[in-house]
Amino acid sequence: MSNKNVVAQKKKVAVLISGNGGNLQALIDACKTPDYPAEIVGVISNKAEAYGLVRAQNANIKTATINHKNFTSREEFDAELHKQITAFGAEIVCLAGFMRLLSESFVNKWQGKMLNIHPSLLPNFKGAHAIKDALAAGAKTTGCSVHFVIPEMDAGKIILQREIAIDSADTEESLAIKIHAQEHIAYPEALCLVASGEIVD
Ligand code: GRF
Repeated sequence: MSNKNVVAQKKKVAVLISGNGGNLQALIDACKTPDYPAEIVGVISNKAEAYGLVRAQNANIKTATINHKNFTSREEFDAELHKQITAFGAEIVCLAGFMRLLSESFVNKWQGKMLNIHPSLLPNFKGAHAIKDALAAGAKTTGCSVHFVIPEMDAGKIILQREIAIDSADTEESLAIKIHAQEHIAYPEALCLVASGEIVD
C-alpha cells in the first residue's frame, strides 16, 4: 500500500482541552508516525490561557477557544462546540483534560466516537479527585483508563487501561507524575485501536 493511501485513510480527530495538554502532546507525537491511523485536525479549549493551545500551534494544528462563560446554558455551549468540531471536519473527538461536563444531547451525537482519559482504573475512583481518592482509600494499585464517553460520567466502555503500583511513600504529586506517564502511552494506543476500527463501542 502506498503512503498516499495510508494518509487518505486517517481518521480526523478533534482534541478538547482545558489546560496543560500533556495528553494532547502525546497524541500529536503519535500522529507523526506515518502509518498511525489518525490525524488531529483541530484543538478546542474552553480556556484561552490553556498551554495545550500553544502545543497545537507549535504543531501547526488549527485551534479554537470557546469560552463557556459566554454562554447562558450548557446546551448552547455544547451546540457551539459541535459546530466547531464539525467545521474542523472531525470524525472522532478526544477529551484530554477537558474540564466541562457535556450535555446528554451532545454526548449522544458523538456516541462511539468520543473518547476520554481518566486517571484511575475505572470503575474505581470516578470524578475530579481520582488520584487523591485512590491514595486516601489506601489502594495498592491505580492507573489510567481510556473509555468511550456516555452521558454518565466516567462510565463508558473501557478501551484500554494501564496499571501502576502505589508505594507507601507516594504523595498525590508523585502519583500524578507516574499516572501521567502511563496516560501518555495509553491514549495514543487507545486512539489507534478506535481509529483503526479494532475496538468499537
Ligand atoms: C489527565 O490526568 C487526565 O487523566 C485528566 O486530566 C488530566 C489532563 O492532563 N482527565 P493534560 O492536560 O493532558 O496534561
